[in-house]
Amino acid sequence: MKAELSSLRELAERLAREAGSIQRERYEGAFEVRTKSASIDLVTDVDHACEALIVDTIQTERSADAILAEEGRGEDYPNAEWRWVIDPLDGTTNYTHGYPHFCVSIGVEQRGVPMVGVVYDPMLDELFAAVRGAGATLNERPIRVSEETELGRAMLGTGFAYDVHRSSDDNINHFADFVKAVRALRRSGSAALDLCYVACGRFGGFWELKLKPWDVAAGILIVEEAGGRTSDFSGGGSCNSGRETLASNAHLHPAMVEILRNREGGNATL
Ligand code: IPD
Ligand code: CA
Ligand code: CA
Repeated sequence: MKAELSSLRELAERLAREAGSIQRERYEGAFEVRTKSASIDLVTDVDHACEALIVDTIQTERSADAILAEEGRGEDYPNAEWRWVIDPLDGTTNYTHGYPHFCVSIGVEQRGVPMVGVVYDPMLDELFAAVRGAGATLNERPIRVSEETELGRAMLGTGFAYDVHRSSDDNINHFADFVKAVRALRRSGSAALDLCYVACGRFGGFWELKLKPWDVAAGILIVEEAGGRTSDFSGGGSCNSGRETLASNAHLHPAMVEILRNREGGNATL
């Protein structure tokens, strides 16, 4: 089992670095941009090139594994022992605007349980990784969540879903409440990196609504293996689906849950 996990981790790391090289090489160059679910939901041919590289290699090297990849390549078999959950480029809006904050995110689950997580930021050459039970690392050095116990001294991250122009469940109220309660709040544009920033102590916590499994599959395990906590907004359930994602250094979890439960996240008061 240990050997299988380390070979999965090695493959995930190799694929994340290779896809990251594509992103770095084509950054600020010519690429096509199209829209998906909304005019602000973008996809580029770099997303597709990264996904093709990752998925085609997994299919060649591990043909029995299931694959859930954001842009739809690969097949998700229900009875497979191992499933890869892939966001080939997390932070596509940043990428499109030449804002150097984006990554590749690759998680591997064993019958639904997250076992390996790798997130690679090609611009900073930062590789975050975790294997269940073996801790989390940044460029091979062990990482831990922050020790901060006061929201008022914490920096948090969040984000907004692509339906923000048309949905009233839009995170505006929660954003307003947190901005008054914390030292600093960032909307950096890559949920997978936001989770890794919680894991390495840069952020005390992170929350976001309506994410997808590929945004969180790797990051959740990396947070937990770094000593943090993840849940839905009630503080109880899992956040593997991404629908409600809350991650923190564990100390700040109750205070974050209190704000999230205090009122709905939408803009009802605007
Ligand atoms: C998006 C990013 C962003 C988050 C969005 C995600 P994408 O992923 O993670 O930070 O706010 O909700 O969909 O589209 O760049 O892969
Ligand atoms: Ca994403
Ligand atoms: Ca993506």
